[in-house]
Amino acid sequence: MADGPAATDRARRKPAAVQVVGFDERGRPMGRLLPPLEADVRPVILDAGSPGDVVDADLLRKRRGVWEARRVSTLQLGPAHVQAPCAHFGVCGGCRWQETAYAGQLAAKAAGIEAILRGAGLAPQKLHSIPAPASERYRNRMEFSFGATRWVSGDEPDGVDRTFALGMHPAGRFDRVLDINACLLAFPETDALLAATRAAARAHQASAHDSLPHRGLLRMLLLRKGVNTGEILLELVSDGSDDARAERVAQSVAQECPWVSTMTHVVHQGMNDAVGADARRTVLLGTGVISEVVAGVRFRIQPRSFFQTNTAQAEVLARLVVTAAQEVNAQHVQDWCCGAGFFALVLAKAGVPRVLGIEISAGAVEDARVNALANALPAEFVAGDIAVVSTSCATAVDMLVLDPPRAGLPPAALEAACNSAARRLVYVACDLRASIGQIKTLVARGWQLTRVTLLDQFPHTPHTEVVLVLDRAPRD
Ligand SMILES: C[S@@+](CC[C@H](N)C(=O)[O-])C[C@H]1O[C@@H](n2cnc3c(N)ncnc32)[C@H](O)[C@@H]1O
Repeated sequence: MADGPAATDRARRKPAAVQVVGFDERGRPMGRLLPPLEADVRPVILDAGSPGDVVDADLLRKRRGVWEARRVSTLQLGPAHVQAPCAHFGVCGGCRWQETAYAGQLAAKAAGIEAILRGAGLAPQKLHSIPAPASERYRNRMEFSFGATRWVSGDEPDGVDRTFALGMHPAGRFDRVLDINACLLAFPETDALLAATRAAARAHQASAHDSLPHRGLLRMLLLRKGVNTGEILLELVSDGSDDARAERVAQSVAQECPWVSTMTHVVHQGMNDAVGADARRTVLLGTGVISEVVAGVRFRIQPRSFFQTNTAQAEVLARLVVTAAQEVNAQHVQDWCCGAGFFALVLAKAGVPRVLGIEISAGAVEDARVNALANALPAEFVAGDIAVVSTSCATAVDMLVLDPPRAGLPPAALEAACNSAARRLVYVACDLRASIGQIKTLVARGWQLTRVTLLDQFPHTPHTEVVLVLDRAPRD
């Protein structure tokens, strides 16, 4: 029998007609109740739906002033409603916006960004939106899970092996894994790698990991591609209980997919899926790294190092930052939270004479220095906490690039940015809702919001990158 919600008991459920009006701040379809329940004005958060749809839904529970509901059927299609292109849609916890045409997704993202800016009391901006050139197969990195407790979908044959899956967790079910044959977000070779890994695991009787007893050899499969170089990396993560078997699995995949550039095996025994920097890693094929070329710079990418996930849009992001520097004729730019030197190196390549990158991860700084050397670029890098380093380095600088993690800059670094000698700041926000407080602070401290660009890197998901250019406001 298939997994999933138990067959709906019409006697117990609270049925309702709901009109989908948009998405909430977490990207979930949101609607309002239609007659005969329209007097109840609480928003309804649905598991699926596209703006304008009218759906028949089960109202499941009230929580914090909203209804949570499950779509039973769609009564009327909204103007942007399309057939979800992925066979796993609805079960897989991945991309949730597939039922909305890409133009509708982009419009919803723009409306969300404008609402955040308005809500922060920032002057209305003309928002520039840059759509992704491809809404599928755009991710250059995907990580899949192995699971010993497989989630069985309705369209899978009876008697399917429930003790092995390689794929993604269903929404909200981290104890189960849905077997995935094709992932439409991932680079095209992904599907062949999934099939070859599954077959190799079977052939070598390698068990999938079960998170609850915390047992089973194969844990995760990381796949990365340098889209402009064609180089592909496969990293198999095991629990370390049988290295020889795990490595035989990888070798079989290498035989089946001879176009893979490099393969690594990493042992991870932690309870959660986060592979630490100190994990034991063995290179099984090639060099253990791949390279990618963006904006004329060749970057070395280690299995677990951060790199922009959408290569085509990384190119555009680089151009936005270079243009921002050129507009103010910046001679000295600092790249705060620089990772492996992405912005610093493209700025140096574009001819900015003095570039300094600052980054907390020593490994990323090492990569940045290797990248600078390999590209013969004069950028310099400092390993350290920006909260500390920024207090002494933000003088005599023309522009700062701020690309912090989701939580934003540490308070001391924000203070240093407020007071810096720079004429221009470029704040790259992967979650504007989380960063808006910092933008408000900058504006309150004399910075003026010059330009806001929505750069869509993640079609079919609610996520987007926002690039904010702030200039020192003229003093009266
Ligand atoms: C969103 S990534 C940006 C990486 C880089 N700009 C790029 O595009 O590849 C954020 C980076 O901030 C770094 N980071 C986090 N906290 C930091 C801190 N307190 N000081 C310096 N860097 C930090 C992380 O290690 C990570 O590399």
